[in-house]
Amino acid sequence: MEFATLSNGVRMPKVGFGVYRVPAEECQPVVQKALEVGYRHLDTAQCYFNEEQVGAAIQASPVDRSDIFLTTKVWIGCYGEGQTYASVERSLRRLKTDYLDLVLLHQAFADYYGAWRDLVRLYEEGKVRAIGTSNFLPVRLADLAAFGGMAPQVNQVETNPLCQQRVAHDYMAAVGVQHQAWAPLGAGAAGVLDSPVICGIAERLGKTTAQVALRWLLQRDIVVLAKSTHEERMRQNLDVFDFELAAEDVAAIEALDTGHGTFIDPSDPATIDFFRPLVEERCGL
Ligand code: A2P
Repeated sequence: MEFATLSNGVRMPKVGFGVYRVPAEECQPVVQKALEVGYRHLDTAQCYFNEEQVGAAIQASPVDRSDIFLTTKVWIGCYGEGQTYASVERSLRRLKTDYLDLVLLHQAFADYYGAWRDLVRLYEEGKVRAIGTSNFLPVRLADLAAFGGMAPQVNQVETNPLCQQRVAHDYMAAVGVQHQAWAPLGAGAAGVLDSPVICGIAERLGKTTAQVALRWLLQRDIVVLAKSTHEERMRQNLDVFDFELAAEDVAAIEALDTGHGTFIDPSDPATIDFFRPLVEERCGL
């Protein structure tokens, strides 16, 4: 496994295992299997409702806690000074550990300033080895880095061959924030794994389409959070360090960018509609 080094010197395995949408009842065996096949970087979140199961899997596994890079994310309902601190303490209890390697603010909404002050406190107290954000596009990231007291070490955003996040990536690289990719394979939706361009490259190199997509991200210095509930795919997604994409293959994948996310697209009115009831209530509409 190769490692990325964060701005504070903390090392993070470049391929992590994500557990978004892994149902709670399946989560413990799936995470135990991931640890068994070699994953040493686990990514969960308060709003995935499976921290208990991730913690149980770590306890049941022969792998030392100190050899695992463990991330969780604070949900927006827990933002605010004092509340975020208490919510991370609850996460620690659910995850059955006395420290976290990384805690991220899950979304750039609500009182993320108050939440960030709590993460800084947890970091200074040594309960968290690194802190960062998720789904913070450049303007929000710049705001927090400039006025939040401490710059984020990581930002996790949807990134895959159809949603390349070039502007966000260049900004993160320029300010020393490690880019992590969620949905590196396009979350199973059509487009990435059935792309004729990526399938063609994979066939020529004797790799799978998923391996080529992950390799392309790694070559951009992006840490990937792959997930699969199937052992064979788990192994495949870890086995991406013995080949290199040539410049022409990189360019062919670059041409696939749509500039849109599959989940949160700030230019899509549906994203704003999500908040409509709250906004209407607050504005007395
Ligand atoms: P499954 O869990 O059934 O293996 P993303 O990481 O972009 O969110 O994508 C996850 C989706 O991609 C899941 O539906 C997962 O399905 C599927 N997947 C993960 N790894 C592979 C792989 N190596 N080949 C094909 N599909 C994969």
